[in-house]
Amino acid sequence: MKILGIETSCDETAAAVVENGHILLSNVIQTQIDIHVQYGGVVPEVAARSHIEVVNPVINRALSDANCTWDDIDAIAVTYAPGLIGSLLVGTLAARTLAIIHDKPLYAIHHVEAHVYANFLTEQGRTPNHSPDELVPLAQSGATGATGGTITQTELTLPSKQPDFPILALIVSGGHTQLVMFRDHGDFELLGQTQDDAVGEAFDKVAKIIGLPYPGGPSIAKAALSGDPHKYSLPKAKLQNTYDFSFSGLKTALLRSVQHETGHDYTFPSHALHMLLDDAMRADFAASFQQIAVETLVDKTERAFNDHSPASVVIAGGVAANQELRRQLQERLPLKIEYAPMQVCTDNGAMIATLAYYYSQTMPAADPFDLEVIPSLSMSKTAWAN
Ligand code: KG4
Ligand code: ZN
Repeated sequence: MKILGIETSCDETAAAVVENGHILLSNVIQTQIDIHVQYGGVVPEVAARSHIEVVNPVINRALSDANCTWDDIDAIAVTYAPGLIGSLLVGTLAARTLAIIHDKPLYAIHHVEAHVYANFLTEQGRTPNHSPDELVPLAQSGATGATGGTITQTELTLPSKQPDFPILALIVSGGHTQLVMFRDHGDFELLGQTQDDAVGEAFDKVAKIIGLPYPGGPSIAKAALSGDPHKYSLPKAKLQNTYDFSFSGLKTALLRSVQHETGHDYTFPSHALHMLLDDAMRADFAASFQQIAVETLVDKTERAFNDHSPASVVIAGGVAANQELRRQLQERLPLKIEYAPMQVCTDNGAMIATLAYYYSQTMPAADPFDLEVIPSLSMSKTAWAN
């Protein structure tokens, strides 16, 4: 069964084809980072307009990379929640229209749950036989004024097998920080979540404070490589529910530390502080922040592992691309963790198509004339498999 997955919930326009919930046939991601970098974050209206420009070329590229025509596609899957409303609308309208025109079943997929399913991809179909230089830029294939890079499928190192249930999932992205136990497909329980900022959001905000470019996660990880993770002592939040997280205190402590280091207090505009830092100081702040943020995630995951004895542990979401998180988690847990490659950790259509395969085994398709988006839908408990 070949499923086309479409993802437009935030600032990536992405589409992919996945066969039988584990074979990656194509993975096309058009990122808008170039557009949003000038604002230091995602501007929702700009994101939605940009999705409109590229969604069709991205979908067409996903089909051609997978060597598929519409006849080969068995179903369409699309993110309907959660995310930016305008961005979600573009993807769902595209998917609904295509489902009607081509008479395909349509599956509505939860973005955060789908992140976990990047870990179920274990095989790669043929890699398209062209180098990035030979690709027709999306702007020339129908879109107007599209900027940002296009990433198509390259040779990926995927896990050798799918994770066994019960699975403990640490979901860490720009909008979510959660520990979830999956007993089976569609049968999961939220153990804990952030009470304020998501960890990716904290990376992005701290990057802004110390003057590193958006998105903050990769910039901080890169700067941290040459920094001292013990230079500044920052606090770990203590919360009532042992599996809950809090990152806003850490971000504020970092800000105070930068003020102290530069000889200023809260009366000095925080957006101008970074101009007083040199690269060595930036690296030390990045490393010290990353150390505590990662340790916090790993402490809670280790505790959940000891309390719940899962058969496997996975990490999912954009922050799962963080190498220090991967290293520390593997160091602390007594089982081998097979990490999904970074290209499927950040937002992508492959995770949407993968989850849709398992979902479609037990659940009916959505009505393409009537699918609504839900911008804020938590993942506290679903049991679609029951
Ligand atoms: O899952 P994602 O692509 O989009 C959301 O659903 O939010 O995650 C984006 C988040 C951003 O906050 C970004 O800074 C963070 O993931 N991120 C990282 C890394 N790569 C991306 N955070 C830490 N280290 C990284 N290497
Ligand atoms: Zn995401």
